[in-house]
Amino acid sequence: MEHFVTMKDKTETEILQLVRRAHHISQKGVNPLQEQYFAANLFFEPSTRTKMSFVVAERKLGIEPLDFMTDVSSVTKGESIYDTAKTFESIGANFIVLRHQQENIANQLAESLSIPVINAGDGTGEHPTQSLLDLVTIYQEFKQFSGLKVVIAGDIKHSRVARSNAIALSTLGCEVYLTGKDEWHDESLPYHYVSMDEAIEIADVLMLLRIQHERHQDQFNLYQESYLEKYGLTVEREANMKKHAIILHPAPVNRGVEIDTKLVECERSRIFKQMKNGVVARMAVIETLLNQGGNFNEENFNKRQ
Ligand code: CP
Repeated sequence: MEHFVTMKDKTETEILQLVRRAHHISQKGVNPLQEQYFAANLFFEPSTRTKMSFVVAERKLGIEPLDFMTDVSSVTKGESIYDTAKTFESIGANFIVLRHQQENIANQLAESLSIPVINAGDGTGEHPTQSLLDLVTIYQEFKQFSGLKVVIAGDIKHSRVARSNAIALSTLGCEVYLTGKDEWHDESLPYHYVSMDEAIEIADVLMLLRIQHERHQDQFNLYQESYLEKYGLTVEREANMKKHAIILHPAPVNRGVEIDTKLVECERSRIFKQMKNGVVARMAVIETLLNQGGNFNEENFNKRQ
């Protein structure tokens, strides 16, 4: 594995190795790397969880994060994303973590740079490390993926989380369903749409999405009363979920919109566990990219345990 920019090019084996490695780190921890490494965390879009969990993951691995703030960088003088990334490569960054509003930009940079690129969210494209941490959370619950029914619910069309997860979950043998407002369907995703009430009946995992209002052409009133009732997870719906079913949400959560605020920390909710798993998932990705030199090999993983 040379880069981590999409779930599309990952095999079932590659994904499972990352999931198991992240889970292993969550149980046993890991020693810091012996060599000196620098990480370039290039966040051109706002982030709390992804950015800070990358910083924690890097520091736990003994890697020095090179913090970058666009508003006090040479981006304000018109420097391009390509020249910014090349600058970090030139001054010794060992990998780049990129969040950017432009879809496919991480992939383009990966083709142009000699250091690994990790996609931390590219517009409405993909968010593969969010998907990985979701997979770790599902794995910790069910210990396998094959046959699990996962419903991804909400603003499918504008969600990079939906895209990465639908791809990865299918690769792992899950049954993926989608639900949401008709105008937010994404017909390019080859999955069956169900109503929210059908979703409640079938889901082993209900993956709620944030309404990506910043990516909408037309302003959507988040707090119109009918949204939660029609499309969100109400207290009544939660009571009808399968006994063992869990709730995921990548956060930030629009409380009272996608989910009743009473359910954000309910027994089924794994929302804060997902955030915790964000650190180990990102550690697994980083050490794989730095240690494996393009070859995915679990034996090498285990040498460092
Ligand atoms: N889930 C997620 O990507 O959150 P942030 O935007 O806070 O990084």
